[in-house]
Amino acid sequence: MGIDIGIIGGTGGMGRWFARFFEKEGNTIHVSGRKSGMNAAEMAGTCQVVIVSVPIGVTGTVINTVGPYMRENALLMDLTSLKREPVTAMLESSVSEVIGCHPLFGPHVESMAGQNVVLCPARGNRWLPWLKGILGKNGASIVEATPEKHDRMMAIVQGLNHFNTIAMGMVLSRTGVDMSELLQFSTPNFRTKMEVLERVFCRNPGLYAEIVTMNPDARHLIDLYGKIITELKDVIDGADTSKLAEIIGRQSLFHQCQ
Ligand SMILES: NC(=O)c1ccc[n+]([C@@H]2O[C@H](COP(=O)([O-])OP(=O)(O)OC[C@H]3O[C@@H](n4cnc5c(N)ncnc54)[C@H](OP(=O)(O)O)[C@@H]3O)[C@@H](O)[C@H]2O)c1
Repeated sequence: MGIDIGIIGGTGGMGRWFARFFEKEGNTIHVSGRKSGMNAAEMAGTCQVVIVSVPIGVTGTVINTVGPYMRENALLMDLTSLKREPVTAMLESSVSEVIGCHPLFGPHVESMAGQNVVLCPARGNRWLPWLKGILGKNGASIVEATPEKHDRMMAIVQGLNHFNTIAMGMVLSRTGVDMSELLQFSTPNFRTKMEVLERVFCRNPGLYAEIVTMNPDARHLIDLYGKIITELKDVIDGADTSKLAEIIGRQSLFHQCQ
């Protein structure tokens, strides 16, 4: 039997995606944005599950607004790309069950099949089997982690990765290259890169900016990135091919390389 699910931020990309997802599962969905839908008290009073899916920078404030209205046997969860702050805020502001959730895909994907979803179960055990059941049935690969571990992993998967894409996009932009002409000269590998560049530079620049700047674990990786660029530049300025090959060869990144 379906339940009432409220999605704060349900008018945005991920919120809309999950509204459709949970609706297909036979639930009744209530979405809200800044100017539409129920207020926090109505949402918490009506819904057994409330999901927060708003920009990272306002997530704490939104959680602190709805948290105090949540009932003990209800579930408060979020879809935020970072987990430490939102999970702490959900625990501190409510008495309800709490699960941090980070779907590792964007609203452009067709279905959940084959996608990774991180869950940070934080309080209660009634709703976790329900959530895992729905995600699992739809083909998600679920990994449970602490918010700390999640944020450390995301510092690499998203922070460093998107920083790298932003730097590359800025280089291309400064060269003034025509991207459609570049496409005619592209390899399969470069076409994949262009799709990533298009996603970061065209779809939701604010989200990528938040992911890179708001994860404290990403900072030391980005410092290291800067140092490595300087080291590599010295080798390249000296046109030292064998040194560069030796550097690449000794990194032992993958077991199969050894
Ligand atoms: N996009 C992705 O690829 C992706 C993937 C995984 C996780 N996430 C996470 O999902 C969350 C939402 O991201 P998104 O890409 O869906 O963002 P989005 O498209 O910009 O949508 C943001 C939503 O939040 C609402 N909103 C903004 N400020 C608000 C406020 N102060 N109070 C209440 N509602 C507010 C907006 O409603 P109105 O505009 O109607 O006011 C809109 O519905 C973020 O935490 C992000 O980290 C995103």
